[in-house]
Amino acid sequence: FSLKEYNTFGIDVKAKNFVEITNEEELKEVLKQTYASELFVLGGGSNCLLTKNLDATVVHVNIKGISIVNETNDEVFIKAQAGENWHEFVLYCISQNFGGIENLSLIPGNVGTSPIQNIGAYGVELKDTFVECEAINIQTLEKKVFTKKDCKFGYRNSIFKNEVKGQYIITSVIFKLSKKNHELHTGYGAILNKLESNQIVEPTIKNISDAIISIRKQKLPDPREIGNSGSFFKNPIITVTKFNNLQEEYPEIPSYKISEEEVKVPAGWLIDQAGFKGYRSGDAGVHKNQALVLVNYGEATGQEILDLATHIQQQIEEKFSIRLEMEVNIIS
Ligand code: EPU
Repeated sequence: FSLKEYNTFGIDVKAKNFVEITNEEELKEVLKQTYASELFVLGGGSNCLLTKNLDATVVHVNIKGISIVNETNDEVFIKAQAGENWHEFVLYCISQNFGGIENLSLIPGNVGTSPIQNIGAYGVELKDTFVECEAINIQTLEKKVFTKKDCKFGYRNSIFKNEVKGQYIITSVIFKLSKKNHELHTGYGAILNKLESNQIVEPTIKNISDAIISIRKQKLPDPREIGNSGSFFKNPIITVTKFNNLQEEYPEIPSYKISEEEVKVPAGWLIDQAGFKGYRSGDAGVHKNQALVLVNYGEATGQEILDLATHIQQQIEEKFSIRLEMEVNIIS
């Protein structure tokens, strides 16, 4: 069974078995029949790089449904099942005037995988509205609720990438969203510029979503046209001392302050400076508008993309003494 249509990188690897599940009962049935070691869980396939055929049963979680679990005059607790497409869920919330996730418009992937890497963009992270998620233990089949605290969210990080990696399948997520007096996050220069150029002075959540959709479309390749997984690397966090040294050599280096001791620098800038923007080797390449995004022009293998990523890592380490960490999950 080819997984090409099921990963946004468009890598053509094969899986021994493929099962699509649309409810929890089906999921438990599959889990009962399959050894944990022979299981591979796939959500939206937007944050993985498949580098070889999988001698496994691939479970495609496609449980749908959105419901309100509780609400007050000001807030709503809304539950989305794991198989809901993330962006469609965002648009649904905006159509209901539920605020809080509009800055996360157009992020590829599904609701069920969004907590794993604590998706984030334009000053907002998933954790800001996350309340809890339900997950099924693949060994015991028991259901567990992970509260926000349990999830240990960090920058592109959570417990699901660490302590309980590979042990649970998230089946639904509950978010707390605002019904009025929305707290807007327009701090990013690009958003302000976009709103200004559309002469919007008092933006609605829909205006912000529209602005972000348009910014992302300009900078980021559409996976349906060119295979990719969004940011391939995390933005590295370095010490202020190291940053000051770099700034002497590169006065224009951008940065975001993390604390008194640390700053985050954009990996895209580093990769761009190293001359890789628009670079192409066979069908594996670095996107022409955003050096942080690796792309598959058609027939690249996962290994070719990985080789390119490793090459970039080495070059960046040599040039800046910074070790880039891959954000995408490498399946090897
Ligand atoms: N830059 C360059 N050249 C490039 C790319 C970037 O010089 O080729 C510079 C830009 O000029 C800017 C800075 O680097 O000064 C930062 O770039 P940008 O605003 O595009 O954002 P980013 O730091 O590269 C992060 C997230 C994105 C998210 C945006 C907006 C990470 C790893 N990436 O990118 O997330 O959409 O901020 O908030 O944190 C994703 O995770 O898939 C993703 C796209």
